[in-house]
Amino acid sequence: MILVTGAAGFIGSHLCDRLVGSGHTVVGLDNFNPFYNPQIKRNNISTLLTHPLFQLWEADIRDSSALDQCFAANDFDLVIHLAAMAGVRPSIEDPEEYYDVNVTGTVKLLQQCVRSRVRRFLFASSSSVYGNNDKIVFSETDHVDHPISPYAATKKAGELICHHYHHLNRMSVICLRFFTVYGPRQRPDLAVHSFVHRIMNGLPIPFFGDGSTSRDYSYIDDIIEGVTAAADYLDNHHCYEIINLGNSDTITLTQMLKTIEAVTGCPAIIDRQPLQAGDALKTCADIHKARALLAYQPKTAFEAGVRTFFDWYLRPLF
Ligand SMILES: NC(=O)c1ccc[n+]([C@@H]2O[C@H](COP(=O)([O-])OP(=O)(O)OC[C@H]3O[C@@H](n4cnc5c(N)ncnc54)[C@H](O)[C@@H]3O)[C@@H](O)[C@H]2O)c1
Repeated sequence: MILVTGAAGFIGSHLCDRLVGSGHTVVGLDNFNPFYNPQIKRNNISTLLTHPLFQLWEADIRDSSALDQCFAANDFDLVIHLAAMAGVRPSIEDPEEYYDVNVTGTVKLLQQCVRSRVRRFLFASSSSVYGNNDKIVFSETDHVDHPISPYAATKKAGELICHHYHHLNRMSVICLRFFTVYGPRQRPDLAVHSFVHRIMNGLPIPFFGDGSTSRDYSYIDDIIEGVTAAADYLDNHHCYEIINLGNSDTITLTQMLKTIEAVTGCPAIIDRQPLQAGDALKTCADIHKARALLAYQPKTAFEAGVRTFFDWYLRPLF
């Protein structure tokens, strides 16, 4: 039985869909926080709620007694920990909340795993731990002790915390560093979703810098393949591993906007703004380790992924 925290979110809901679809019994834990409209999260899992292998626990990972009840009622053999305050820019506004959820919350969950003898743990880390790494492509062996935002620091802290649970409590842990994930159900604050929404509503698009900043955009289905492969890897290996999951390709801000204009058939209104503090200039994943350990092979080209996102965006709501 698998516990997925953050199950109602963008990545969590896709992961739970995949896990129950392949016959796993899944408990999804989420507190439906208001970081973005909780109704979107309820919609994400509306079909899952009717699946016999899925059960929802509405709870906060910082609530030890709620965790205790959830673990007492279920016999987990794997925890996939996705629940977090996500996003770089808002973390600069409210670092305390980010540390509370992403660091304290992660410790509470790991402590519960120790108490309940759950020995396998997957942690959602982030490409943001690389900061403004001056070496492109980003590899798991690069030094990541220079975070440039509170969010990045909380994710690096999570990786470190997981390591001592591996060392002291014999837990097998994989920390997956996700690189800018997009696709249907993507968080509304993220580029692609927010750009499509603004273009379709005739709103100006904040365009930070000269358009040369770039991201390694990773399509949700490819990421889910990587997460499930990592879960399978934990079945057979006692390990602590950090693994990049990205597309290993970079798209500049200008290219992204042109792709979105082509897919939507609408021109963008551009609102030029200076670069934002805390944003990395470029991200690109070295995925050799994911290929070697997980047979990870991202398949989705950016334009095809944006088209799938746009089809989802245009879906009838009722
Ligand atoms: N989306 C990306 O591009 C990306 C990139 C790198 C890392 N990540 C990481 O992947 C994970 C999932 O990201 P996402 O984009 O799906 O975000 P999301 O915000 O859509 O999902 C996170 C979920 O966690 C829940 N949550 C937050 N705080 C909680 C708490 N205290 N207790 C219980 N539930 C709580 C939220 O309600 C939400 O449903 C996060 O850990 C994020 O940091 C995401």
